[in-house]
Parts: sequence; C-alpha cells; structure tokens
Amino acid sequence: LTKDSRPRESPGSSAFRRIGFVGAGAVGTTLARALAECGARIEAVAAGHLASARALVEMLPAGDGVKALLPDAVVQSCDLVFLAVPDDSIPHLAESLPWHDGQGVVHLSGAKSSAVLAAGRERGARIAALHPLMTFPHRELGPTARVLLERLAGCYWALETEDSLLEQELRRLVSMLQGHVLTLGGESRIPYHIGAVFASNYVVALIGAACALFETLGIEREESLAALLPLVHATIASVTESGIPQALSGPVARGDSGTVASHLDWLEKYLHATPASDSPEVTAAHGTLLPALVESSAGAYRALARIALLLAIQKQTITGEQIEAIRALL
Ligand SMILES: NC(=O)c1ccc[n+]([C@@H]2O[C@H](COP(=O)([O-])OP(=O)(O)OC[C@H]3O[C@@H](n4cnc5c(N)ncnc54)[C@H](OP(=O)(O)O)[C@@H]3O)[C@@H](O)[C@H]2O)c1
Repeated sequence: LTKDSRPRESPGSSAFRRIGFVGAGAVGTTLARALAECGARIEAVAAGHLASARALVEMLPAGDGVKALLPDAVVQSCDLVFLAVPDDSIPHLAESLPWHDGQGVVHLSGAKSSAVLAAGRERGARIAALHPLMTFPHRELGPTARVLLERLAGCYWALETEDSLLEQELRRLVSMLQGHVLTLGGESRIPYHIGAVFASNYVVALIGAACALFETLGIEREESLAALLPLVHATIASVTESGIPQALSGPVARGDSGTVASHLDWLEKYLHATPASDSPEVTAAHGTLLPALVESSAGAYRALARIALLLAIQKQTITGEQIEAIRALL
C-alpha cells in the first residue's frame, strides 16, 4: 500500500459511522489502528483498565478526538462496537452493556457463534461474529499503523450474522482492510477454530517441542530455534508451492518404518530414564519444564504420525506393506 492508494471510507456510506472498541489488547489495538489508517472513524475505546484504552487512543490519529471511556459510555456513543475481549468475557458484556436499537455489536472470537450476543439482540442491536484468521501475539503499540495494515492484507475473516445491513457493513470494512470474507454458520465455528488452532498455535507448540528435544542434547533454546527456523520456513514454502499432501516428506512419507521405530524407541527410553513430569523431583532436579515437554512430545509424535500416515496414503508414495508396518508401530 502506498500512502496515496490506501483505501478510504466512502463518506455517508455507513449507518455505522462511529466505531467503538471494548478491548484494547492484541486484536483491539491492531484492528482499531488498521481501520483508522483506512479512514474509518474510531469514536471511543474502553478496556479492562482505562490505561490500556488510553494507550490505544494515543496511537490513533490525534485529530480524530478519539476518547478513552468506560465500556458503558463506548456502547452509548457508538453505532458499531467491536468486543475485542477474551472469549470468556463476551457473554457477561453482552448481558450487562446498555445496547441500543439499530446498533451493531460484533465479537471477534473464532470459537463462539454470534448467539452469545443474543442479549444485545433482545435490546434491538444487530449482532455478528467476525473472526480474523490471523495470529496476534502482542498488543501492537510499536509498529506503525501502515505495517499493521500490511500484515492484515489478504487475511480471511470468518463472518457469521443474520443481519444483512450489518453484514454489508462488515464486508465493506474487511474489503477496506484488503481481506476476504469466509461465511460461516454458527454451528461450524468450533471445527473451524480447531483448524485455526492447529495451523497457528500448535505449530508454535510443535516448534517448542522440537526445541525441547534439541535442548536434551545441550543445545541452547536460541540456537535450537536458529537451526530449526530454515526448516520451518522451507516447510511452509513447500506447502505453499505443492499443497497438501504433496508437501509431506520424511520417514512416514517414504515408508521408512525402521526410522519411525527408532524414534519411538528413543522416546520410550527417555521416558523411562526421566522421573514422571508431575513428580517433585522434576522441579528439584531440572528446574525446567523440559522433561514434561519431551514426555508430551512422545504422545504428540504418535498422534501426528497417524495423521502423516493418512496423508502419505493420499499422496500414494508408500506401499500397502509399508502402511501396515507403520500402522503396527503406532
Ligand atoms: N490474539 C489472537 O491471535 C486472536 C486471533 C483472532 C481472534 N482473536 C479474538 O480476539 C478477541 C480478543 O483477544 P485478544 O488476543 O486481543 O485478547 P487480549 O490481548 O487479552 O486483550 C483483551 C482486552 O480486553 C480487555 N478486557 C478484558 N476483560 C474486559 C472486560 N470485562 N471489560 C472490558 N474490557 C476487558 C483487556 O483490558 P486490559 O488491557 O485493560 O487488561 C484487553 O484490552 C478474543 O475473542 C479472541 O478470541 C484473537
């Protein structure tokens, strides 16, 4: 995006002109700043602590006069409110905030349907769930709004609403952010979100497990990560280029059951040589979570190898005999 070509809000196009945020954490800061960068009018921000709301307001364009308020006041002063709060706080806020007729209220959770906002609808509000299929690990006050906007470009947003006017508005906002809308029924959100967790959070967990295994060899966490990252990047590039299941490589894809057996053997031996992870000796002797991480990796290895085997069958790179040999090990 260049400064001149950035998308601008078309004037008078919206019944939801004044946008408010309840929640100024990882997603709230990114979304509010990105929308403001596109020319949307952010009216007011609230959070659990007023200081968090103020920190976000300071990052928004000064001329817009955005206010840091309490959640009730944000709801009273805005036409469209994003609830950018932890999932478990959404039902209580939906029940307790003073929603008004015609107002839009949108939560950003992937796992919850819009039905969790039913209390708002009973008071005349238009409700929706809009989940960015993206990872936001930090409260983003450091990078420029332009950088945040560039990170969001191409992102898919899972939208669920029965309100056509609100749907139209959310589609417009997603399009301003150069995103794509994925329409998703309320009953689909849990499996959808499990998929999102696999593709992001558990990739981090897997890289953490790989680092833990390297650490058992005395390689420091930082060096482990440096050594593993080219492999991780190449894997993502391969998935991008070849897709699933073609990107699968490794012993399961080759049908090397002997190698799989040697992995399982090492993991078993490690488990027998290490005290159970919940025993007091672990904390005393190691002072780290390393044994527990490796122990959990053993369970993950088997579960993931079973998935890899199904993909190898789809890829048609292994014989029936090899499939049976690996299946017997798992
Ligand atoms: N993080 C991600 O990668 C990601 C991705 C997609 C969707 N989401 C969804 O986005 C939503 C927000 O997640 P997040 O990661 O941004 O959470 P977060 O970083 O923990 O931020 C939560 C924000 O909510 C505020 N808050 C908490 N309880 C509140 C209450 N009762 N009233 C008012 N404000 C309250 C907190 O205030 P303080 O700052 O004052 O503590 C904080 O500003 C969730 O529904 C999540 O599922 C997250």
